[in-house]
Amino acid sequence: MKALVLAGGSGTRLRPITHTSAKQLLPVANKPVLFYGLEAIRDAGITDVGVVVGDAARAIQSAVGDGRAFGLRVTYIRQAAPLGLAHAVLTAREFLGDDDFVMYLGDNFIVGGITALVEEFRSSRPDAHIMLTTVPDPRQFGVAELDHAGQVVGLEEKPEHPKSDLALVGVYLFTAAVHEAIAGLAPSQRGELEITEAIQWLIQHGRKVTSTVISGYWKDTGNVADMLEVNRMVLESAEPRMAGTADPASELIGRVVIETGAQISGSRIVGPAIIGAGTVVTGSYVGPFTSVAPGCIIADSEIEYSIVLSGASIRGVRRIEASLIGHDVEVTPAPRVRGAHRLILGDHSKVQISS
Ligand code: TTP
Repeated sequence: MKALVLAGGSGTRLRPITHTSAKQLLPVANKPVLFYGLEAIRDAGITDVGVVVGDAARAIQSAVGDGRAFGLRVTYIRQAAPLGLAHAVLTAREFLGDDDFVMYLGDNFIVGGITALVEEFRSSRPDAHIMLTTVPDPRQFGVAELDHAGQVVGLEEKPEHPKSDLALVGVYLFTAAVHEAIAGLAPSQRGELEITEAIQWLIQHGRKVTSTVISGYWKDTGNVADMLEVNRMVLESAEPRMAGTADPASELIGRVVIETGAQISGSRIVGPAIIGAGTVVTGSYVGPFTSVAPGCIIADSEIEYSIVLSGASIRGVRRIEASLIGHDVEVTPAPRVRGAHRLILGDHSKVQISS
């Protein structure tokens, strides 16, 4: 059995971060979200992994390498344009051959891994097996309809009137039957080859499509609110660790991870929180559910429930919350001139100013 990890896409919901970074490499508790998926695949006993990449190919390749660090053998598959999940499978046709495979969306986060799911599929071998979870508003997801026996009888992509509250989680298991289904697809209204339509094709052609409803935690980290929420969840179970330094004037409370060489002085850090290697925090408050990447500076500031990417500096700013701050960003107070704000923002940036 192989795995196909989708790490292309356009990431429009995470602009401007995705103008310069792959969303699958955005860190959750200072580790790229993609790595959690690769580890789940390895833990399920799969070693042969195809990673579908788009414009951010180089960044993904330099982060994941040949996969050896994860105990995997990784093959990169270049998708010319993000033309849909089924298009990614089509692009990977040669890599997949006629093997069974698990398709894993590289920006999805699933607590509890996929081992049980893969084992169930290996023993029962339906043509396709999908993972579902109940969501409050199914209209923004692929939605499944099940019969009394739990067999999948229909799938709809982002329906206006959902037939259930069961949304598709970003992990799918297929036999080679899916290739026949994809071969007959035409682009949908949004111009993509939809995997939901391929699964619907299998159902209509009498193939067996089964499902597991998961009770565990799942999130698609495609937007900032969900990124912050996944970060919160992972930090909740972080083991406190001190590999840096904190002066006597500092207070570390609760689950706080201070990575190698990070320096904390005159600051209060209330966990769960993680401060990356070499980051300097002075005269500041870092509140719960905050991940600060390596090489940052937080000085005379307050921040909580946020993710700060590497090399960013925040000086003299009170208070930042529910924010995603990009690589090498500088946040400082404006000089006190007519209460003005001074902004240099990249395309598609979003700023909420309290004034
Ligand atoms: P999505 O989040 O559905 O799509 P997207 O990345 O284009 O993002 P947005 O909607 O914000 O513009 O994609 C799910 C995962 O699959 C994600 O890791 C990107 C990946 N993907 C591909 O590799 N190829 C594709 O053609 C598409 C659509 C997605």
